[in-house]
Amino acid sequence: MWKNVILCIVLGVIATSAHYSIPGGSGSSKPGPVCPPPACPESKDKCKLSAQENKKIVLDFYTQVFVKRNFSAVDIHYAPNIIQHNPHVGDGRKPFLDFMTSVKPVPVAIYRPVAECDLVYLHVKMITEDDDSKPQAIVDIFRVECGKIVEHWDVIQPVITNVGNPRPMF
Ligand SMILES: *[C@@H]1O[C@H](CO)[C@@H](O)[C@H](O)[C@H]1NC(C)=O
Repeated sequence: MWKNVILCIVLGVIATSAHYSIPGGSGSSKPGPVCPPPACPESKDKCKLSAQENKKIVLDFYTQVFVKRNFSAVDIHYAPNIIQHNPHVGDGRKPFLDFMTSVKPVPVAIYRPVAECDLVYLHVKMITEDDDSKPQAIVDIFRVECGKIVEHWDVIQPVITNVGNPRPMF
């Protein structure tokens, strides 16, 4: 019993400092100790919504705004003073709305939505229709607090083909 508790604590400390959990311990084929559910030490959400609830909010936001271009979803899902890390868009709702209304509607496909604690990650393919633009491969990261999106980061690279690896990027 105490051996398991101590092992859970040690694994928990390793998992916390490494930012991921180690299910059942590592390096052993024996079943690991039964650990308490992983805490979210990184989560700043005082409402402690589940990762699944946060994912639902972000997917609704993304689908409504980017796929359906229903911009009233911005007021519903974005916190008024959302923190933006995209270098082209300022904090708050208006700069994002200004940006969205300035670009043409484009096909958007959402792949691999993943949520942990207060963070939601989407792997997205966005086809831009400008003549010399390529489809973009994007990872959007959202932080959700009490049901509102309060922070956003993204990582963007062009989808390229015929450059060595025949495997598609999605
Ligand atoms: C726009 O999105 C919001 C948030 O999901 C939703 O409540 C509303 O019904 C949507 N409007 C339309 C016209 O689909």
